[in-house]
Amino acid sequence: MKLAPSILTADFVRLGEEVEAIFAAGVRWLHLDVMDGRFVPNISFGPTIVRALKPIADRYDALVDAHLMIVEPEHYLRAFAAAGCDNITIHSEVGPHLHRNIQAIKGLGVRAGVAINPATPINVIEEVLPELDLALVMTVNPGFGGQVLLPHCLDKVRRLRERIDTLGLATELMVDGGVHEHTIASCRDAGATVAVVGSAIFRPDRAPDEGVAVLQQALAVSASR
Ligand code: DX5
Ligand code: ZN
Repeated sequence: MKLAPSILTADFVRLGEEVEAIFAAGVRWLHLDVMDGRFVPNISFGPTIVRALKPIADRYDALVDAHLMIVEPEHYLRAFAAAGCDNITIHSEVGPHLHRNIQAIKGLGVRAGVAINPATPINVIEEVLPELDLALVMTVNPGFGGQVLLPHCLDKVRRLRERIDTLGLATELMVDGGVHEHTIASCRDAGATVAVVGSAIFRPDRAPDEGVAVLQQALAVSASR
């Protein structure tokens, strides 16, 4: 299982150092939670932060992944691609033209992901699943880090895992929200291949590299059971 740290709860005064620390600890996926204050009740950051962090990611050949929790994402795809995103994930709930937006992302030479909120059934992405590089199952209601994982969302992960395997797809299955050392093994066992981890990595009482080690240990211990 790949770890995808989210900088949402990082120390923004030392953001470059924090991101460097996760890459130095072996992480090769950076998850950027973009929020517009409309799709979710919070505002985070835009392409400027992506552009600022991209050189650090490039030094480690790490993947830069933007999770757009925004309405009208079609207006911003080019800007996030130009800022250096390797993957752009949009939400199925933001409008009627999901397929067109997936085509637009891929037309920019960027990997395409679709995210579904806790109340959104997995069959919403059934018709576009074969075109997705990544499917993101929100395991909290989007907007904030540090929330508690919603158990029913792991049932969705299990069902989506079965669907991906039945279709023989290579689509990454990502979970996002409430993933830490006590829940990450359940996420992997449900069939997720990538785990967004925010407050388990970026928090005042534990260095990022320590968080990475604790999560990897939790996966290793549970694998041997
Ligand atoms: C919710 C955010 C969070 C974040 C992860 O909108 O997307 O899920 O990335 O935060 P933690 O890992 O602290 O739940
Ligand atoms: Zn996210």
